[in-house]
Amino acid sequence: MIAELQDIKKHYNQALSGRQKPVLDGVSLQIGENESIAVTGPSGSGKTTLLNILGTLDRPDSGTVILNGMSVPKLNESELARLRNGFIGFVFQLHFLLPQLSLIENVLLPLMPLHDKLARRAGRERAMRLIERMGLQDMINQKPSGLSVGECQRAAVVRALVNKPGLLLADEPTGSLDTETAARLGILLSELKKEERISMVVVTHSPELAARMDKIFRLGSGKLLPINKA
Ligand SMILES: Nc1ncnc2c1ncn2[C@@H]1O[C@H](COP(=O)(O)OP(=O)(O)OP(=O)(O)O)[C@@H](O)[C@H]1O
Ligand SMILES: [Mg+2]
Repeated sequence: MIAELQDIKKHYNQALSGRQKPVLDGVSLQIGENESIAVTGPSGSGKTTLLNILGTLDRPDSGTVILNGMSVPKLNESELARLRNGFIGFVFQLHFLLPQLSLIENVLLPLMPLHDKLARRAGRERAMRLIERMGLQDMINQKPSGLSVGECQRAAVVRALVNKPGLLLADEPTGSLDTETAARLGILLSELKKEERISMVVVTHSPELAARMDKIFRLGSGKLLPINKA
C-alpha cells in the first residue's frame, strides 16, 4: 500500500448560519503501488477537500492519512515538507503557475531544492521529454499570461511529474482541455503509470479519463463508494 485514508471526517463551518457542513463523513481509501484511481462526484461533493487531505495540504477533523508507510499526524514539518516535495506530485484544479516565470522555469521549480548537479540535469532532461510529449516544446519561454488555459494545465502536469513522484494527485487535469488534448493527456498518464510504476488519484468529470484508471470511485453525501467499471 502506497497511501491510505482511514475513516476521514471533515466539516466546514458555514459563514452565515454558523452551522456545520459535513463534507467527508468517514472516507476510507487504499491506494496500491502502481494503482490508478479516479474520483468522480458532483461539484461541491468534497473531491478537492479529499485530495488536499491526501496530499497533506489540509487536515482532517479525524481519521488518519498514511503515506509511503508513514502516519502523517506523527510527522514534523520538515518530514512533511520532504514528503510533499519528493513523494507527491500535485496538479491543482487551478494551475498555480507563477506569472513572473516562463513555462520552463515553472516546470523546473520542483528541482530547486536538489543540490546534486547530476540529479538536476536528469530532472531537466526529464522535463524536456515530458514537455515534448505534452506538445509544449515551442512555448517553453512563454510566461503563463502568454499561454492558453489548457497549455498552463499541461505545464502544471509536467511540473507535478518532474520529480518522479511516487503518488500523483491531479484535480481535474483535463478540465480545460479539448477532447483530443484531453485524450492525449489521458494516454500519457496511463503510459507513465506503466513505465514508472507511479500511483495516481485523479479527480475528473470525464468518463473517458475515469475509464483509463484501474478503479473508479464516486464521492457523494460525504461517502466514497466504488463504481463498477463498464
Ligand atoms: N475553506 C472552506 N471553508 C468553508 N467551506 C468550504 C471550504 N472549502 C470547501 N468548502 C465547501 O466544502 C464543499 C466541498 O468543496 P470541494 O472544493 O472539496 O468540492 P469539489 O467536489 O472539489 O467541487 P468541484 O467539483 O466544484 O471542484 C463545498 O460545499 C465547499 O463550499
Ligand atoms: Mg474541486
